[in-house]
Amino acid sequence: MRVIVTNSYEEMSASAARIVAGQIYLKPNSILGLATGSTPEGMYNELIRVHKEVGLDFSQVISFNLDEYIGIKDSDPNSYHYFMNNKFFKHINIKKENIFIPNGNMQNIEQECKKYDALIEQKGGIDLQILGIGNNAHIGFNEPDVKFEAITHKVKLDEETIAANARFFASKDEVPQYAISMGIKTIMRSRRVILLANGKNKAQAIYNALYGPIRPATPASILQLHQDVTVILDKQAATLLPPV
Ligand code: GLP
Repeated sequence: MRVIVTNSYEEMSASAARIVAGQIYLKPNSILGLATGSTPEGMYNELIRVHKEVGLDFSQVISFNLDEYIGIKDSDPNSYHYFMNNKFFKHINIKKENIFIPNGNMQNIEQECKKYDALIEQKGGIDLQILGIGNNAHIGFNEPDVKFEAITHKVKLDEETIAANARFFASKDEVPQYAISMGIKTIMRSRRVILLANGKNKAQAIYNALYGPIRPATPASILQLHQDVTVILDKQAATLLPPV
Protein backbone atom coordinates (compact mmCIF):
# COMPACT_ATOMS: atom_id res chain seq x y z
CA MET A 1 0.00 0.00 0.00
CA ARG A 2 1.33 3.42 -0.90
CA VAL A 3 0.03 6.28 1.23
CA ILE A 4 0.28 9.82 -0.09
CA VAL A 5 -0.60 12.61 2.32
CA THR A 6 -1.28 15.93 0.62
CA ASN A 7 -1.78 19.41 2.03
CA SER A 8 -5.31 19.99 0.81
CA TYR A 9 -8.38 18.60 -0.93
CA GLU A 10 -7.19 20.24 -4.16
CA GLU A 11 -3.80 18.52 -3.97
CA MET A 12 -5.43 15.19 -3.16
CA SER A 13 -7.71 15.58 -6.18
CA ALA A 14 -4.89 16.59 -8.53
CA SER A 15 -2.73 13.72 -7.35
CA ALA A 16 -5.52 11.21 -8.03
CA ALA A 17 -6.29 12.78 -11.41
CA ARG A 18 -2.64 12.40 -12.44
CA ILE A 19 -2.78 8.66 -11.76
CA VAL A 20 -6.03 8.28 -13.73
CA ALA A 21 -4.70 10.38 -16.61
CA GLY A 22 -1.46 8.34 -16.66
CA GLN A 23 -3.48 5.14 -16.79
CA ILE A 24 -5.51 6.38 -19.77
CA TYR A 25 -2.41 7.75 -21.52
CA LEU A 26 -0.67 4.36 -21.32
CA LYS A 27 -3.83 2.33 -22.06
CA PRO A 28 -6.42 4.41 -23.92
CA ASN A 29 -9.02 1.64 -23.66
CA SER A 30 -8.67 1.38 -19.90
CA ILE A 31 -11.54 0.07 -17.83
CA LEU A 32 -12.15 2.42 -14.92
CA GLY A 33 -14.15 1.69 -11.79
CA LEU A 34 -15.72 4.96 -10.66
CA ALA A 35 -17.09 6.28 -7.39
CA THR A 36 -19.61 8.93 -6.44
CA GLY A 37 -19.75 11.10 -3.33
CA SER A 38 -18.22 14.45 -2.57
CA THR A 39 -14.70 13.03 -2.23
CA PRO A 40 -13.93 12.32 -5.92
CA GLU A 41 -15.62 15.46 -7.27
CA GLY A 42 -12.38 17.44 -7.29
CA MET A 43 -10.63 14.62 -9.12
CA TYR A 44 -13.38 14.61 -11.77
CA ASN A 45 -13.04 18.40 -12.14
CA GLU A 46 -9.31 18.07 -12.64
CA LEU A 47 -9.77 15.30 -15.23
CA ILE A 48 -12.27 17.49 -17.08
CA ARG A 49 -9.71 20.30 -17.09
CA VAL A 50 -6.99 17.98 -18.42
CA HIS A 51 -9.41 16.72 -21.08
CA LYS A 52 -10.28 20.26 -22.20
CA GLU A 53 -6.85 21.84 -21.93
CA VAL A 54 -4.51 18.98 -22.76
CA GLY A 55 -6.80 16.72 -24.78
CA LEU A 56 -6.91 13.69 -22.47
CA ASP A 57 -8.92 11.30 -24.62
CA PHE A 58 -11.72 9.24 -23.06
CA SER A 59 -13.09 7.96 -26.37
CA GLN A 60 -11.98 4.38 -25.77
CA VAL A 61 -12.38 4.35 -21.98
CA ILE A 62 -14.96 2.04 -20.44
CA SER A 63 -16.36 2.83 -17.00
CA PHE A 64 -18.19 0.81 -14.38
CA ASN A 65 -19.64 2.61 -11.39
CA LEU A 66 -19.48 1.12 -7.95
CA ASP A 67 -23.05 1.49 -6.89
CA GLU A 68 -26.54 2.94 -7.26
CA TYR A 69 -29.56 3.40 -5.04
CA ILE A 70 -32.51 1.09 -5.55
CA GLY A 71 -35.82 2.70 -6.43
CA ILE A 72 -34.95 6.23 -7.52
CA LYS A 73 -35.14 7.32 -11.14
CA ASP A 74 -31.97 7.96 -13.15
CA SER A 75 -33.24 11.50 -13.66
CA ASP A 76 -33.45 12.12 -9.89
CA PRO A 77 -30.62 14.51 -8.92
CA ASN A 78 -29.74 12.15 -6.07
CA SER A 79 -29.24 9.14 -8.30
CA TYR A 80 -25.68 8.16 -9.05
CA HIS A 81 -26.61 8.08 -12.76
CA TYR A 82 -27.42 11.78 -12.51
CA PHE A 83 -24.32 12.56 -10.45
CA MET A 84 -21.95 10.87 -12.87
CA ASN A 85 -23.48 12.39 -15.94
CA ASN A 86 -23.67 15.86 -14.47
CA LYS A 87 -20.33 16.00 -12.70
CA PHE A 88 -18.22 14.08 -15.19
CA PHE A 89 -19.49 12.23 -18.24
CA LYS A 90 -21.19 15.13 -20.02
CA HIS A 91 -17.96 17.14 -19.83
CA ILE A 92 -15.65 14.56 -21.45
CA ASN A 93 -15.69 12.50 -24.64
CA ILE A 94 -16.53 9.10 -23.14
CA LYS A 95 -18.99 7.15 -25.31
CA LYS A 96 -22.45 6.56 -23.85
CA GLU A 97 -22.26 2.88 -24.74
CA ASN A 98 -19.08 2.54 -22.69
CA ILE A 99 -20.69 3.77 -19.46
CA PHE A 100 -22.05 1.19 -17.04
CA ILE A 101 -23.84 1.95 -13.77
CA PRO A 102 -25.94 -0.61 -11.86
CA ASN A 103 -29.62 -0.22 -12.65
CA GLY A 104 -31.57 0.12 -9.41
CA ASN A 105 -34.90 0.14 -11.19
CA MET A 106 -34.93 -3.38 -12.59
CA GLN A 107 -37.67 -5.79 -11.51
CA ASN A 108 -35.13 -8.52 -11.01
CA ILE A 109 -32.32 -6.94 -9.00
CA GLU A 110 -30.55 -10.25 -8.45
CA GLN A 111 -30.28 -10.82 -12.17
CA GLU A 112 -29.05 -7.25 -12.69
CA CYS A 113 -26.29 -7.86 -10.13
CA LYS A 114 -25.16 -11.09 -11.79
CA LYS A 115 -25.17 -9.43 -15.20
CA TYR A 116 -23.04 -6.56 -13.89
CA ASP A 117 -20.19 -8.76 -12.69
CA ALA A 118 -20.36 -10.87 -15.85
CA LEU A 119 -20.10 -7.72 -17.96
CA ILE A 120 -17.07 -6.46 -16.04
CA GLU A 121 -15.36 -9.80 -16.68
CA GLN A 122 -16.42 -9.87 -20.32
CA LYS A 123 -14.90 -6.43 -20.91
CA GLY A 124 -11.62 -7.61 -19.41
CA GLY A 125 -11.81 -6.57 -15.75
CA ILE A 126 -11.26 -3.23 -14.06
CA ASP A 127 -7.82 -1.71 -14.59
CA LEU A 128 -8.14 1.09 -12.07
CA GLN A 129 -10.78 1.39 -9.37
CA ILE A 130 -11.41 4.70 -7.61
CA LEU A 131 -12.81 4.48 -4.09
CA GLY A 132 -14.04 6.88 -1.46
CA ILE A 133 -14.73 5.68 2.07
CA GLY A 134 -17.73 6.03 4.37
CA ASN A 135 -17.43 7.20 7.98
CA ASN A 136 -17.99 3.56 8.95
CA ALA A 137 -15.23 2.43 6.51
CA HIS A 138 -17.66 1.23 3.86
CA ILE A 139 -16.44 1.10 0.27
CA GLY A 140 -19.02 1.33 -2.49
CA PHE A 141 -22.03 0.45 -0.38
CA ASN A 142 -20.34 -2.50 1.32
CA GLU A 143 -21.42 -1.83 4.85
CA PRO A 144 -19.80 -3.22 8.03
CA ASP A 145 -20.19 -6.99 8.38
CA VAL A 146 -20.28 -7.44 4.64
CA LYS A 147 -19.21 -10.79 3.28
CA PHE A 148 -15.71 -10.47 1.82
CA GLU A 149 -16.74 -13.07 -0.79
CA ALA A 150 -19.61 -10.99 -2.16
CA ILE A 151 -19.74 -9.86 -5.77
CA THR A 152 -22.27 -7.25 -6.97
CA HIS A 153 -25.34 -7.52 -4.74
CA LYS A 154 -28.32 -5.82 -3.15
CA VAL A 155 -27.42 -3.99 0.06
CA LYS A 156 -29.49 -2.72 3.00
CA LEU A 157 -27.94 0.61 3.92
CA ASP A 158 -26.72 1.22 7.46
CA GLU A 159 -28.48 3.84 9.58
CA GLU A 160 -25.15 5.71 9.74
CA THR A 161 -24.89 5.79 5.95
CA ILE A 162 -28.49 6.90 5.57
CA ALA A 163 -27.85 9.69 8.07
CA ALA A 164 -24.62 10.73 6.30
CA ASN A 165 -26.27 10.77 2.87
CA ALA A 166 -29.39 12.57 4.13
CA ARG A 167 -27.56 15.87 3.50
CA PHE A 168 -28.28 15.42 -0.19
CA PHE A 169 -32.00 14.71 0.25
CA ALA A 170 -34.91 16.86 1.45
CA SER A 171 -35.16 14.69 4.56
CA LYS A 172 -33.69 11.51 6.03
CA ASP A 173 -36.93 9.65 5.17
CA GLU A 174 -36.30 10.20 1.48
CA VAL A 175 -32.94 8.44 1.47
CA PRO A 176 -33.39 5.02 -0.15
CA GLN A 177 -32.93 2.08 2.22
CA TYR A 178 -31.42 -0.21 -0.38
CA ALA A 179 -28.76 -0.04 -3.05
CA ILE A 180 -26.86 -2.18 -5.53
CA SER A 181 -23.14 -2.29 -4.91
CA MET A 182 -20.16 -3.98 -6.45
CA GLY A 183 -19.06 -6.49 -3.83
CA ILE A 184 -15.74 -6.62 -2.03
CA LYS A 185 -14.60 -9.40 -4.36
CA THR A 186 -15.51 -7.35 -7.43
CA ILE A 187 -13.46 -4.47 -6.03
CA MET A 188 -10.55 -6.68 -5.04
CA ARG A 189 -10.34 -8.12 -8.57
CA SER A 190 -9.41 -4.65 -9.93
CA ARG A 191 -5.81 -4.49 -11.02
CA ARG A 192 -5.11 -1.16 -9.29
CA VAL A 193 -7.04 0.74 -6.62
CA ILE A 194 -6.95 4.36 -5.51
CA LEU A 195 -8.59 5.11 -2.17
CA LEU A 196 -9.34 8.78 -1.53
CA ALA A 197 -10.31 10.49 1.71
CA ASN A 198 -10.38 14.03 2.96
CA GLY A 199 -11.54 15.74 6.13
CA LYS A 200 -11.30 14.97 9.81
CA ASN A 201 -14.47 12.89 9.88
CA LYS A 202 -12.71 10.24 7.74
CA ALA A 203 -9.58 10.00 9.94
CA GLN A 204 -10.83 7.13 12.09
CA ALA A 205 -12.12 5.13 9.14
CA ILE A 206 -8.77 5.59 7.37
CA TYR A 207 -6.83 4.53 10.45
CA ASN A 208 -9.01 1.43 10.87
CA ALA A 209 -8.77 0.57 7.18
CA LEU A 210 -5.00 0.88 6.99
CA TYR A 211 -3.86 -0.23 10.44
CA GLY A 212 -6.79 -2.05 12.03
CA PRO A 213 -7.49 -5.76 11.83
CA ILE A 214 -8.74 -7.05 8.50
CA ARG A 215 -12.34 -7.85 9.31
CA PRO A 216 -15.82 -7.46 7.83
CA ALA A 217 -16.65 -4.84 10.50
CA THR A 218 -14.20 -2.58 8.64
CA PRO A 219 -14.96 -3.26 4.95
CA ALA A 220 -12.07 -1.13 3.64
CA SER A 221 -9.54 -3.12 5.72
CA ILE A 222 -9.64 -5.82 3.02
CA LEU A 223 -7.59 -3.44 0.87
CA GLN A 224 -4.57 -4.36 3.02
CA LEU A 225 -4.59 -7.61 1.04
CA HIS A 226 -4.63 -5.95 -2.38
CA GLN A 227 -1.33 -5.85 -4.21
CA ASP A 228 -1.65 -2.38 -5.74
CA VAL A 229 -3.45 0.22 -3.64
CA THR A 230 -2.60 3.91 -3.51
CA VAL A 231 -4.23 5.81 -0.66
CA ILE A 232 -4.37 9.55 -1.23
CA LEU A 233 -5.37 11.72 1.73
CA ASP A 234 -5.50 15.32 2.74
CA LYS A 235 -3.83 16.24 6.04
CA GLN A 236 -7.04 16.01 8.06
CA ALA A 237 -7.90 12.49 6.99
CA ALA A 238 -4.34 11.44 7.89
CA THR A 239 -4.33 12.86 11.43
CA LEU A 240 -4.53 9.48 13.18
CA LEU A 241 -1.88 7.76 11.09
CA PRO A 242 1.46 7.08 12.73
CA PRO A 243 4.24 9.39 11.53
CA VAL A 244 6.35 7.91 8.68
C1 GLP B 1 -21.46 6.92 -0.30
C2 GLP B 1 -20.99 6.10 -1.52
C3 GLP B 1 -19.52 5.73 -1.44
C4 GLP B 1 -18.74 6.95 -0.99
C5 GLP B 1 -19.11 7.27 0.43
C6 GLP B 1 -18.46 8.55 0.95
O1 GLP B 1 -22.41 6.32 0.49
N1 GLP B 1 -21.76 4.93 -1.79
O2 GLP B 1 -19.08 5.25 -2.70
O3 GLP B 1 -17.35 6.67 -1.04
O4 GLP B 1 -20.50 7.31 0.64
O5 GLP B 1 -19.07 9.69 0.45
P1 GLP B 1 -18.44 11.12 0.48
O6 GLP B 1 -17.30 11.09 -0.50
O7 GLP B 1 -19.51 12.07 0.06
O8 GLP B 1 -17.94 11.34 1.87
